[in-house]
Order: sequence, then structure tokens, then C-alpha cells
Amino acid sequence: MTKDSILSTATKRIETLFNDATDEQISDLENELMLLDRQDSSFLYNRSMEIMNTVVDLKELMMTYSCAMKEIRVKLETLNAEYELGHQRNPINSIYTRLKRLASIMEKLERKGIPFSLENIENNVNDVAGLRVICQYMDDIYIIADALKKQGNIELVSEKDYIANPKPNGYRSLHLIIKVPVYFSDRVKNMNVEVQVRTIAMDFWATLEHQLKYRRELVDSEAIAAQLKECSDIITATDFRMLAIRQRIEANSPELTKEDILFEKMKKVDLPLG
Ligand code: GTP
Ligand code: MG
Repeated sequence: MTKDSILSTATKRIETLFNDATDEQISDLENELMLLDRQDSSFLYNRSMEIMNTVVDLKELMMTYSCAMKEIRVKLETLNAEYELGHQRNPINSIYTRLKRLASIMEKLERKGIPFSLENIENNVNDVAGLRVICQYMDDIYIIADALKKQGNIELVSEKDYIANPKPNGYRSLHLIIKVPVYFSDRVKNMNVEVQVRTIAMDFWATLEHQLKYRRELVDSEAIAAQLKECSDIITATDFRMLAIRQRIEANSPELTKEDILFEKMKKVDLPLG
């Protein structure tokens, strides 16, 4: 039997049923069908509302992360500007910010075996908002991190010092997870933000290592890993030497008098503010 013939047989049977039915039975059937229809559409309506609410809440959550990230960026820029005025040099070379893509957030939750929900994102994914702070010298990393941690409205959630304790592959950086309040008109939300602080040299290494990681299956991975580790050691030595050179120059420079410092600041007084 074809689909069409089944349908036409069924329709004929229903027609017969209708012909034999009393007015009362027909009216009951009509009411039942209407109820079914309404239940079906209210289910669909509720489901759409639920989905729309989640999408809007997710957007709001990401907006809050973005604001938290901007708050930290301003704090870092403030410290850099202050340091430049006081010490005639910038500890921060550049700042990069990024919001984690939804696909990466989902992947991370899945990796941890945690179901996807907005609450689970907030409680389990610490790097939705991420800042990478690139410093010139190794001591700048701790100057910036310590100054940030000291601020009253910031709470340090966790700290990993991969400079004092590099990863076996040679990765070096200082990682902070901090909580920062974001103020809205009617509420305050404390958001986790990941801050990675490293030197230009450490960033050079980490960026290349990250790119090469994806291609490792194609090549002699052990030899490449060994070469990368070797490069990390060279870069570490260079970081130490550059710091030592700067400190030597500073130690050998005549002490600036109060007048010298004032003149230095005066020279920059009409430069555009960074
Ligand atoms: P995830 O790695 O993010 O799941 O969290 P975790 O708790 O292991 O954090 P960890 O502090 O070890 O690393 C966080 C981030 O640091 C990573 O997402 C990378 O951006 C960076 N990172 C850590 N290890 C390496 C590494 O070996 N190479 C490079 N290039 N980056 C790394
Ligand atoms: Mg990791």
C-alpha cells in the first residue's frame, strides 16, 4: 500500500465516523481538537520563550564579562601612565584583550564533564574574559601584578607563576585569576577575569609554540619539543641579561635630583595622554 492510498482510506473511515456521529459527539470532538491545538501551541510558545531568555541572558553575561575586562584594562593603563610619569619608562609594552568564543566555552565545559548552563560558565570557566599584558622586563611583570592585586576592589582568586616554575615544555608567564566588580544601575556583579603577564620574549615564544602545537602530528614531535624547550631556555637567559643590563645602566646613571625629575616631567607635560 502506498502512503497516499493509506491516507485516502483513513480519511474515508473518518468521514464515515463523522457521518454516523451525533451532533453532541461532533461538538465534543471539536472541543478536544481545539484543546489539543492550544496545548501544542502553548508548549511551543513556552519553549521559544525559554530559548529566547537563555540567548538574551547569555548576551548579557558576555556583555558583563566584556565590561569586567575593560575595567581591568583601564586599571592597567592607569598603572602604566603613573609609572611613566614617575619613572620615565613604561613597564607595559602592550595589552591584548579577548572574550572566549561560545564554541570554546562549550568545549571547555564538555571537557570538564559539566553541562552547559550560564551558571556553570560563571562557576567553572575562569577565562571567558582574558587579558594578556606584555611587559618589557621581567621585574615589570611583578610590579604590575602586585600593584593590581593590591587594589581594594580586586580579589585574587588564584595565581600560577610559570616564571618561577616554568611548564616542562618551557612555557613561562604569570597567570592571575581575579574577581572584579562590574557596577550596573541596580546591581553589582563580580566577574572572574584571567590576566596573563609576560615579557615580549616570553610572548614571542608562547605565540609560536601555540601555532606549532597544531602541526605537531605531522612532524617529528619529540625533536621539535626539545628544540622549543631549548629556545625557551635561551629566551629566559636573554630576559635575565636584558634586565641586568637595564639595572646596570640605572645603577651607573647619576642619581636624578628633584629638579632633574621635575624638568623631565615638564618636558612631557604637553604630550598627548596615552
Ligand atoms: P586551561 O588550560 O585554560 O584549560 O586552564 P588551566 O587551568 O590549565 O590554566 P593554565 O593557567 O595552565 O593555562 C591557561 C592559559 O595559559 C591557556 O589557555 C593558554 O592561553 C596559556 N598556556 C598555558 N600553557 C601553555 C603552553 O604550554 N603554551 C602556550 N602557548 N600557552 C599556554
Ligand atoms: Mg591548561
